[in-house]
Amino acid sequence: MKRTLATALAALVAGALLLVTTGEAHQGHKHKEGVAKFGLRFRTSTMQALSIHMGVLAAEKKGELTLTPADRAAHGAAVRALSVLVVDLFQQDTSARTRSKPEIWTDWETFAARARDMDVAAAALATATAANERLAIDAAIDAVGKTCGGCHKPFRKPRHKR
Ligand code: HEC
Repeated sequence: MKRTLATALAALVAGALLLVTTGEAHQGHKHKEGVAKFGLRFRTSTMQALSIHMGVLAAEKKGELTLTPADRAAHGAAVRALSVLVVDLFQQDTSARTRSKPEIWTDWETFAARARDMDVAAAALATATAANERLAIDAAIDAVGKTCGGCHKPFRKPRHKR
């Protein structure tokens, strides 16, 4: 069951990835309409899914659980596919009502660069999990984790200041 889910997920994210990479990932806004339709939910659910896929991989790294290579690759592919979506989820300035800081929109280039940092690290994670290379996977988990903080620190408000 778990395996089937992971396989279905892998197919889903592979499809999403294909869709995005065949378009223009960062300028083309191929999924602009989807973002408009689902709005903030699309943003927060993408972030939460990133957090969970990373969390599972990090838990294995800490020795808390063991994944099959197929499941591990599915999580790596999911992180990769979701990371490609991130920059487009901030088309709308929501700084007055969410934890997004206004600097995202006043310093868009820097924000977009932080999103690209994650894309690069996530691509390495997807490659490492697909190849089932333990050392590369561990390094990539750390590298992706750093890019989450690398954007949250400058661009996300602390929880209480909402
Ligand atoms: C390019 C910037 C950027 C990157 C990279 C990034 N985030 Fe975020 N993230 C944000 C911002 C901004 C918010 C606040 C969104 C809001 O409230 O409008 C956020 C919110 C979140 C949330 C809270 C979602 C909610 O329920 O409100 C989680 C969880 C999260 N991020 C996880 C991650 C993880 C895990 C990664 C790395 C794999 C990551 N993020 C990478 C910018 C980023």
